This record gives sequence, C-alpha cells and structure tokens, in this order.
Amino acid sequence: MRVCVIGTGYVGLVTGACLAHIGHHVICVDNNEEKVKMLQSGRSPIFEPGLTEIMQSSSQAGLLEFTTDLGAGVAHGTVLFIAVGTPPLPTGESDTRYVEAVARGIGEHLNDSQGEYKVIVNKSTVPIGSGDWVRAIVQSGVNESQKTLVGALVGSRSTLEQAAEFDVVSNPEFLREGSAVYDTFNPDRIVLGSNCPQAIAIMQELYEPITQRQFAANRDLPSVPVLVTDLSSAEMIKYAANAFLATKISFINEVANICDRVGANVTQVAQGIGLDSRIGNKFLQAGIGWGGSCFPKDVSALIHTANDYGYEAHLLKAAVSVNQRQRLILIEKLQQVLKILKGKTVGLLGLTFKPDTDDMRDAPALHLIEQLNRLGATVKAYDPIVSQSGLRDGLSGVIVETDAERLADRCDALVLVTDWQQFRDLDYSKMASLMNSPVMIDGRNFLDRQALEQCGFQYLGVGS
Ligand code: UDX
Repeated sequence: MRVCVIGTGYVGLVTGACLAHIGHHVICVDNNEEKVKMLQSGRSPIFEPGLTEIMQSSSQAGLLEFTTDLGAGVAHGTVLFIAVGTPPLPTGESDTRYVEAVARGIGEHLNDSQGEYKVIVNKSTVPIGSGDWVRAIVQSGVNESQKTLVGALVGSRSTLEQAAEFDVVSNPEFLREGSAVYDTFNPDRIVLGSNCPQAIAIMQELYEPITQRQFAANRDLPSVPVLVTDLSSAEMIKYAANAFLATKISFINEVANICDRVGANVTQVAQGIGLDSRIGNKFLQAGIGWGGSCFPKDVSALIHTANDYGYEAHLLKAAVSVNQRQRLILIEKLQQVLKILKGKTVGLLGLTFKPDTDDMRDAPALHLIEQLNRLGATVKAYDPIVSQSGLRDGLSGVIVETDAERLADRCDALVLVTDWQQFRDLDYSKMASLMNSPVMIDGRNFLDRQALEQCGFQYLGVGS
C-alpha cells in the first residue's frame, strides 16, 4: 500500500519506518530541510533501539523515502498519516497549530490526486473532537484550491468532477520511547476511530502484517485485537490510557511515601498487589515520579478538556500534584542524611526521563538540578547517552561527567535518577572510595541495597 507520513518526529518516523519494514511504500514528509537531509542519508535524529537498522534496510529496498514536498507525499499516499507535534501551551492545552497547517496543506493538494479516495489518519495526540475539526480544515483546503482551479481553468469541468474524496480516522499510538519499534510490531491492540467502513477496511489491510503477528517477537500469539470505535472515543482512549498509567504510578508513589513512614517495603507491596490480576504488576515501580513527553502533556490536556466542559477532574489533578511532590522526595532524603545541602556536591546517576532514550523532556532530573542549585549544592551528573552527546551542552546548573567514577569523585551523595541497566554493574566499591561520604539515594529502587551496603554505602530507597 502507498503511505505518506507527515511529520518525522518520534511517532512519525517510527511509524513510517515500521510500515515500510512490513512492505508498504512510505514517503515521509517534513518541512525541516536539515532533518530530511539527515534522514535521506540514513541517519536518525532520535535515539531509538532498532530504528536506524530498519530505516536503512527499508530505504535500500526502495520502500522508504523522505521529502519536504507535501504535494508529492499527498499524491503518493492512499493513507496519509498526520504525525506532527501537539506540544503543550502554558495553559496545559495542546497547541494544535501544526496539525491545522498540515490538514490545510493536505486539503490544498487533494485535488491533484485525480479523485483517488484517501484516508487521513490522525496519529498526533489531538484534543477530543479534533477528528471532525481536521475533516473541516481539510475540506476548507480542498475548497480553497478548487476556487483557484476554477479561476485558472474557466470552463474546464473535468477537474472539478474528480472532487477529492477522503475520510478521517483516529489511530492513536501507544509507543513507549526506548521500545517504540518493538511496540509497533507487538501492540496490545490497534484502535481505529471512524464510522466509515471503507476507511476502516483500508486501515485493517494496512495493519494486517502486524495484526497477524508476522513481525512479532512471538508469532504464535493470537492476532492483535483491532478495536473500531467512533472518532471521539478513539481520541479519548489515548488520553484515558496515559492518564490511567500516570495515575497508577502516582498511586504507588503515594503508597511508597506511606511505606516510608510506617516501615513497610513498597517493592514487596507492589508485588503483593500486582499479583491480583485485576490490578496487574506493570507500572507499579515507585520512584521519583513520571516525566517524558506524553504523560505530563496528556494528563494536563485531559484536565483542561474536562474543565472546558465544566467538569473538574479531581483524581487527575491529584495524580499531577502527587507527581510534583514526588520530585522533591529525593531532596528530602538528601537533607535527611546530609542535613544542609549548601556547599555539598551531589552526583546524579542518569539524566534522561527514562532509560534507552535521549529524551530530556520533562525529565525529573531537570527539576532536581534546579532545586539542588537553589539550595546551594554543586550538581554533577553522568548519563550513558547525554554524557556522550551534544545534549549535555544544553544543560545548565550541572557538570556533566564522562563516566561514573569521575562522577563519584568527591561527591557527598549520589542519587540514582534514571534506571539505566548499566548502573547495576558499576564498580560501587571504587566509587564509594572516591566519595566524600558514600551515600546513595536510589530514586528508582533499582539497585541492590545489600550489595551497596557491603560496598560501604548508606542506602536510601523510595518507600523501601
Ligand atoms: C508513555 C506510554 O507508556 C505510551 O503508551 C505512550 O504512547 C507515551 O507515553 P513513555 O513516555 O515513552 O510512554 O514512557 P513510559 O515507559 O510509559 O514511562 C513514563 C514515565 O513513567 C517515565 O518517567 C517512567 O520513569 C515513569 N514510570 C513508569 C514510573 O515511574 N514507574 C513505572 O512503574 C513505570
């Protein structure tokens, strides 16, 4: 099938590369020339395991192309994905101006497609109700360009007879950064929001190699459920899923804080409740709270939407406030051990909002650095990705070290911020010997307390 993906950010690039990998002919469009050049040369602007490999093999097979030419992309694709960003505005609402511009652009080019039916897919996380809004904008783009055509081709009716035909489908993504390629080939479900059978049939055909698990890690599993809903429900599913997961983490963090006070161990508590199949064991890892590009943005946007409709989302607001407070927990723990932080040196293990990504958006580390600076502490950090990349130059208030031992050197305490797998295998005895005082605040309950204590560390976890 011929596919066009507009926007080569995180979601667009992964979607485009994965659809090409399963055999579709994909053109990815982006208006950033530099980025398109980079992609054309086979390099990925984001760090995502497995992505560069499938980009390169699909490009070599002639199934993946990159361009800045929206018209060429629209003419090519039967399915047109809108995958541009919807960043948060200061009010918490989503900024939909990029979606609007793309929808208008698609509309303006649809008349060039000689009446071919197109499915326009909203992959961007857009406010509930946007499907209808996108349809209206595409249609207005179509109407505008028809007016121009009428002006240019007075008397020629043939162009107008081939009026653009299209439908809009909402197809939210549930990809996790760091495992986005894996998640694309091994989804729990595919959600398609539209009440148009023709569009749904095309989308089902598009995803068939995935729903039939032809590219799955375990091909013996039953086919992937495809849930067909109305447009608004599909849009709501994305928000509700992220809000639920964020709330689940805030819940276990609240339990962890109570555990700290009553002397219980949250890891064991999470295990105990997670074995209840109604609760499930995932997303019960207590720590310093959720960050990243999705949870904070989507939870705020849902609160905002509810508010627009006169409803106050008490539970979601509480999930956000627990999360904000959770980021300060590590400061409290540092103060518990070091007392005054002014003049002390604190080393952060990890900077990214989670492992296997280079993403620093809304990373708890940023908040921590700011607070520690405010309290007069010197902050150093080591991160397996940030330390090796240009990202370190954009950070202020922190000295970024190139390895964990340099980080430990003359630190008064270390704080594990990101649960990078390699942090389990560091030489903690050596690190302890380099520190002013070997204190480890494990913000993810990730390290082996006993092993750390044997290396001479004073170890504090979160709720454990
Ligand atoms: C999330 C959703 O999982 C994904 O479905 C959606 O499409 C985008 O948002 P992502 O932001 O990549 O994905 O990260 P995720 O792995 O879900 O973690 C989000 C945050 O929660 C991270 O800050 C992580 O450290 C934190 N987290 C996660 C916890 O603190 N505890 C947990 O048990 C799980």
